[in-house]
Amino acid sequence: MHFTLCDYMMEIVQNAVESRADTIRMRCDQTSETCLFSVEDNGCGMTPAQLEACQNPFAADSKKHPGRTMGLGIPLLAHCATTAGGHWLADSEPGRGTRIEATFDLRHLDTPPIGDLADLWVSAMTFAGDYELIIERTRRDAAAVAPRGYTLSRREIREVLGDLNTTTSLTALRAFISRCEADIG
Ligand SMILES: Nc1ncnc2c1ncn2[C@@H]1O[C@H](COP(=O)(O)OP(=O)(O)O)[C@@H](O)[C@H]1O
Ligand SMILES: [Mg+2]
Repeated sequence: MHFTLCDYMMEIVQNAVESRADTIRMRCDQTSETCLFSVEDNGCGMTPAQLEACQNPFAADSKKHPGRTMGLGIPLLAHCATTAGGHWLADSEPGRGTRIEATFDLRHLDTPPIGDLADLWVSAMTFAGDYELIIERTRRDAAAVAPRGYTLSRREIREVLGDLNTTTSLTALRAFISRCEADIG
């Protein structure tokens, strides 16, 4: 189930990891009125036909999920953004990668809460594999004001903490990211 914007974005970053990307960039830029999320990967990419199919909830990838008839990551995100006054876009090229971006209207009654970004960042960093994940998080009170923010690199964090799937490193990572979030709150 999807209760927060972070739940939607979790599906999108999982797709990026599954695309065998070696570098993924995630961005979350928030103002008092809007929240923009994007995920950009340099993975296998999609042909125009695949890109169109993945926007259709009834066109699941039967090789990846035998027996499943629905793929929901992108259709749910698109539905969530557009029914609540937001926008979304998907851009992809075979062999080059994919970019998915969604802007949500935080004042719209049907926009879900953003959710726990620290949880999203930790989960996005702890899939198996050697991918680099760069997270750019910014907050602005008004368009004219300089943003507050932080940048995280999975590679740098792994250099410090080692294996991210031990209880000790997960606890340290969560505490570190929560502090970054609190500092820009
Ligand atoms: N970032 C991506 N790179 C390459 N292919 C992608 C990407 N995102 C989605 N796809 C393709 O679109 C399909 C549908 O994605 P999604 O709706 O999340 O369903 P699922 O991941 O469960 O198959 C994926 O199976 C994959 O083939
Ligand atoms: Mg998916």
